[in-house]
Amino acid sequence: MPKPATLSGIQPTGKLHIGNYLGALKNFVELQDSGKHRCFFAVVDLHSLTEDFTAGEKRQQILELTADFLAAGLDPERSVIFQQSQVPAHAELTWIFLTGTPMGELERMTQYKDKASRQQNNLNAGLLTYPVLQAADILLYSPPVVPVGEDQAQHIELARTIARKFNKNFGPTFVEPKILLTQAPRIMSLKDSSKKMSKSQPEGCLFLDDEPKVVMDKLKRAVTDSGTTVFYDPENKPAISNLLRIWAGLTGESLDNAEERFAGKTYAQFKGELGETVAGHFAAYRTKKTALMKKPGTLKRVLKEGSEKAATVAQKKLLEVKKKMGILI
Ligand code: AQP
Repeated sequence: MPKPATLSGIQPTGKLHIGNYLGALKNFVELQDSGKHRCFFAVVDLHSLTEDFTAGEKRQQILELTADFLAAGLDPERSVIFQQSQVPAHAELTWIFLTGTPMGELERMTQYKDKASRQQNNLNAGLLTYPVLQAADILLYSPPVVPVGEDQAQHIELARTIARKFNKNFGPTFVEPKILLTQAPRIMSLKDSSKKMSKSQPEGCLFLDDEPKVVMDKLKRAVTDSGTTVFYDPENKPAISNLLRIWAGLTGESLDNAEERFAGKTYAQFKGELGETVAGHFAAYRTKKTALMKKPGTLKRVLKEGSEKAATVAQKKLLEVKKKMGILI
């Protein structure tokens, strides 16, 4: 029996923050290290074209995200690390799925509404059709589970709907994927604990690349709640609870242990200790990433070899789809 697949992707749109890490990337590495899955992790560059960019920026962002993957612990010997645009089946299956997806399903997507309101000057059709490309990304590899942050739940649900509909119309073809969340599926902004930490709002982000001094400074200035004691209460203490979730996510401790550890400490003491934990956790990552960024040839080779491996799997699925639909005669 072959191992079940797992697949996820991250957009090359800028530096990764601790939400991307605790909600997704850390889980990618754990799934790989468990040895229980055939792992596919993509630099989803086609998705990232829905935002403004220049060619020079995009080239750099693709290399940088590949370095992020490797520096965080993904290993091209054990995971297929690939570039979405270099596997043509993704775009082709998207078209097929688009023709079977009602407009209304896409118009009600929260991320679309969010991004459309933020990108008034670049309201492109890709923003609307984005989740269908994501469904194609996933369904080509038949993963029973997809590790993503909570903000992607609605998109995974759509991928399930698309798979179910296709299977009903043309016979069993796709596995209906389930979302795989971490203990920290939604990290909030350091500036506003009612908003998700987002690359597009960098002022609220703790980036994996941040030097220890910057980490300490950002945490010192992060919003807190009224009161003086540190305990987990997402409703009444959303900011402190968010910081506790970061600490627990990085150390692998439970939230109960986190509360116990910081009981009786001031907010400032807690933030200081959290800062040391964050800076220490990413020290090896930062060194490794700096070294990798000096080797663009290695990064390009990883993507090329990974994309070839991914294309073999994806192309086979696409041919099956075309046969079932009667367009491969
Ligand atoms: N705040 C978050 N907490 C937990 N998980 C998160 N993810 C994103 N933000 C958080 C997860 O990270 C993965 C990569 O997401 P992406 O490539 O789609 O990046 P993104 O959503 O563009 O990243 P941002 O930071 O949310 O940027 P914005 O919103 O500004 O475009 C996904 O698995 C995502 O769930």
